[in-house]
Amino acid sequence: MKVINLGNRHDASFYTACELFNQIERKPESKLGLATGGTMVDVYTHFVNLLKMNDVDVSKVETFNLDEYVGLSQTHPESYHQYMQNVLFDQYPFFTASCVHVPVGDAEDLDAEAERYEQLVQESGPADIQILGIGENGHIGFNEPGTSKKSKTRVVDLTESTIRANSRYFDNEDEVPKQAISMGLSTILSAKRIILLAFGEKKKAAITKLASGVEDADVPATILYEHPNVEIYVDDAAAPDDMGREV
Ligand code: PGA
Repeated sequence: MKVINLGNRHDASFYTACELFNQIERKPESKLGLATGGTMVDVYTHFVNLLKMNDVDVSKVETFNLDEYVGLSQTHPESYHQYMQNVLFDQYPFFTASCVHVPVGDAEDLDAEAERYEQLVQESGPADIQILGIGENGHIGFNEPGTSKKSKTRVVDLTESTIRANSRYFDNEDEVPKQAISMGLSTILSAKRIILLAFGEKKKAAITKLASGVEDADVPATILYEHPNVEIYVDDAAAPDDMGREV
């Protein structure tokens, strides 16, 4: 597993979109593990363009999102349901609704919802590609520092660092939900292939730790060392200092 500097957000996002597109072209009934957050916005823009330009049949594609905030309705502007509608499903409205899966953050029984979601992921079989962002604290999904590598989909408490980082999407920090339903680390590792993206100076510390080669429960993304098929693409700003070669 190696961190690769693709130079800029555009190229890394386009590459990832091409990989999602190629996956569906190769296998129309592909299972895609999808992520949200600022990092992924351009990936979906390029992906939608590729789908439109090539009139791709996505009716058999199944999608599974990593996580959802607790307490937000599906139509709340900052829910991950709504994010996915905005960036993908409203832009290319040919996915089959029953094949699109996001945990329900305002379910009456949140633990039962988490269990249902985990079972759904397990029963449908491994994702062909799982895309991932990374938190400034090294989380993947909402698996915060200290998460067990055996973790499955469950209700999680967000750390101060995550609440602060995500407050940029809300009017103020108090509005950021304090909990989420998130796939666990073991759920994420069940994917066949994983592509992690990180852009910007704020991700540099997390990527530097991820590039260290030392598995550390305080940096949850380092669990990816245990996966045989992981690609990590960053822009120049998120690349560790010692990566480049003097020329
Ligand atoms: P971001 O979030 O893309 O909004 O920076 C990534 C993450 O927290 O996993």
